[in-house]
Amino acid sequence: MKERVKVVVTGAAGQISYSLIPRLVDGHTFGDKIVDLELVEIPQVVEKLDGLVMELEDSNFPNMGNVNFTSDFEGAAKDADWFLLVGSIPRGIVYNGKKIEERADLLQINGGIFVGQGKAIGEHGKSDAKVLVVGNPANTNALIGRHAANNPSQLWMAMTMLDSSRAQSVLSKKLNACVADISKMIIWGNHSPTMYPDFENMECNGQSGKDAISDMDWINNNFLPTVQQRGKAVIDSRGASSATSAAKAALDTVIACENATAPGDCFSAAVITDGSYDLPEGIICGMPLRTLEDGSVEIVQNVVLSEFAKEKIKISTNELLEERAAVEDLLK
Ligand code: NAD
Ligand code: LMR
Repeated sequence: MKERVKVVVTGAAGQISYSLIPRLVDGHTFGDKIVDLELVEIPQVVEKLDGLVMELEDSNFPNMGNVNFTSDFEGAAKDADWFLLVGSIPRGIVYNGKKIEERADLLQINGGIFVGQGKAIGEHGKSDAKVLVVGNPANTNALIGRHAANNPSQLWMAMTMLDSSRAQSVLSKKLNACVADISKMIIWGNHSPTMYPDFENMECNGQSGKDAISDMDWINNNFLPTVQQRGKAVIDSRGASSATSAAKAALDTVIACENATAPGDCFSAAVITDGSYDLPEGIICGMPLRTLEDGSVEIVQNVVLSEFAKEKIKISTNELLEERAAVEDLLK
């Protein structure tokens, strides 16, 4: 009998989910496992998911198991292996008469969602459940959810894979290489304009970025701002935030956690700090991760950080500390 995996997706009627959900059951993301889906939406739009379920059925995905849609998150969470928490409001829209410009402006609107969902995941999710927060501000939402879950054997991540994919793409062009030639692409800090894409420790065909790139003017005035501001650039152009690339990044994060990481490589996601790299404890911070053969995920140690990198990372961790202080009431 084939193994099964139960996956909960929130915001299932939104634009990221429309690109994400079919690819959870396509036989690639979870390999040969049968995927049971719990699709969660707010009561106002949950009925729209009937149409999505029809489309999933009509697509004849051989690995699709049971599919349910609901607005009852607690019920959906029962014995789930994976939680993809996409449901939340994106920036770029007008909310209460004010245009939401920065992801951090979403803290008070979206943060509250993660208290109830976190509690339900802690109580009803599997003890080794993996949780990926996509909804912004992803790092601090994940902090709120993890705190409410109070179940340390579960792994809470905030998504920075999209940032690492963006960085890989820009660097591959600069180095006349393919994206597949780039490895060890680490995003440190917050999924925000302060994030630090670590060009020095990335490797292109085995050569470190530190050795391959000496053009610091390009790093400071092109590479860093392009990656840090890419989300805004997409919003300004599309009139909506990135969706298909965000879905691909969520799938890549799942795949990175479901398969052992190649020796010497790592992948990017933000997890709770534990003193590694002298980062302040108790924030969800982008770091290098690897998945072991037993399926556990750990922080990769011994990455060497230059003074330049340390300075940049500090700016981002300071921002995360500020965000944490702003949601103190949700962390009680
Ligand atoms: P969207 O507005 O198209 O969809 C969001 C959906 O979430 C809506 O259908 C809404 O009804 C639903 N929702 C809201 N509250 C919910 C709740 N409590 N439970 C379940 N569902 C709920 O937005 P989108 O473009 O899909 O983006 C979703 C989020 O992902 C946004 O916060 C966006 O900023 C974020 N995002 C993050 C990254 C990243 O790299 N971390 C990338 C892109 C987008
Ligand atoms: C992104 O990076 O594309 C998302 O976080 C959406 C946004 O608000 O920038």
